[in-house]
Amino acid sequence: MNILLLGSGGRESAFAWKLSQSPKCDQLFIAPGNAGTGIYGQNIDISVNDFEGIKNLVHKNSIDLVLVGPEEPLVNGIHDFFLADELLKNIPVIGPQKAAAQLEGSKDFSKEFMFKNSIPTAASKTFTPETLDEGLAYLATHGLPIVLKADGLAAGKGVLICTSWEEAQQELTAMLRDAKFGAASSKVVVEQFLQGIELSVFVLTDGKNYKILPEAKDYKRIGEGDTGLNTGGMGSVSPVPFADAAFMAKVEERIVKPTMQGLQNDNLPYVGFIFIGLMNCGGEPYVIEYNCRMGDPETESVLPRIENDLVEILQATAAGNLDQINLKISSQIAATVMIVAGGYPEEYLKNRTVTGIENVRGSIVFQAGTKLENDEIKTAGGRVLAVTSLQDTMFNALQQATLDAARIYFDGMHFRKDIGFDLI
Ligand code: AMP
Ligand code: GLY
Repeated sequence: MNILLLGSGGRESAFAWKLSQSPKCDQLFIAPGNAGTGIYGQNIDISVNDFEGIKNLVHKNSIDLVLVGPEEPLVNGIHDFFLADELLKNIPVIGPQKAAAQLEGSKDFSKEFMFKNSIPTAASKTFTPETLDEGLAYLATHGLPIVLKADGLAAGKGVLICTSWEEAQQELTAMLRDAKFGAASSKVVVEQFLQGIELSVFVLTDGKNYKILPEAKDYKRIGEGDTGLNTGGMGSVSPVPFADAAFMAKVEERIVKPTMQGLQNDNLPYVGFIFIGLMNCGGEPYVIEYNCRMGDPETESVLPRIENDLVEILQATAAGNLDQINLKISSQIAATVMIVAGGYPEEYLKNRTVTGIENVRGSIVFQAGTKLENDEIKTAGGRVLAVTSLQDTMFNALQQATLDAARIYFDGMHFRKDIGFDLI
């Protein structure tokens, strides 16, 4: 079958790598892709939000299945666009329809969904410009720190953790009255701070059946020892040692099952990946957020541990037969180290020549922010490369990925040398 993968990050490089291994994959197209996805398929320079362009691409190349990597086209309704089109409606799209993508697209919607379905999450209240005064009064009675979340998509920047009431009041005003995050902060969720360790749990569903995929832990801060600014993710590991059978049983009973039931009760069709961001608070799981896609850089650690043919899994997902799939998960440990551009996550260097990928011995390199120029790989984003190693022990996986990251060079590059070492 011919497959179209939408996106251009490290997650999509990992998807392209895995899809291209399947004997069932005839032609793989990636839109727009990056220099790394081009190794596994054909990149087509069309934006993930150009639905008409995607429609033409699907026709021209007889695409049989579309896998959507990032959240934006899902929140913008790409799945609905396919269903509403006479020529596209029978081509399966892996990724939820717009209504269910609101689980990621609106924090207020996702909190309501969790409260309604008794899914453990932080207590919260939502405010709008009309209820700003009420919000300011509410903050004065709130324990510290206070978490403020812009309701809409804000490129990972919409969550603020305020350590004083004054800061929280200033920020709430900036978000609601001065549109600090544009339309995304026309509603703000004020939330209780959860103390604990985070992990990412991934569920794939065909709408009625589901499979829990390997969990992962993501390292968000730029600096070693979890210091400095937040980033899109500096590395990941899978599995997560504290997510043992007892913990995962709680996750399934208290979170995954009621989430599936809630989607059905509310008539929210969902075919695709559900990413559940969790806080482990003293052994009890609480939901921090839902995303309507896989995580990045978690995918780079999760996919190498799945031994099944991914095309078979996606076909079963599209056909509503996911219960027929027997997931085979490697017991090996995957560690991913992200190499980022100098300056990232602030203003960063671009267009630097990347060398040394061919020297990597014990890892897979998934390219993220890269492009090809005169046969050279050039940096073209903040997160440039994900280096993943799969080994028998956590220590070996971490050491190998870190060692291999150091075999690559570009001007200004940076990577954390402590990814996962807190878990050993
Ligand atoms: P989100 O965009 O919802 O994933 O939030 C970004 C990050 O903020 C999360 O990954 C957490 O590290 C942190 N965060 C969000 N909500 C909370 C909370 N209620 N308590 C503590 N940390 C939080
Ligand atoms: N790694 C976090 C995310 O993909 O949102």
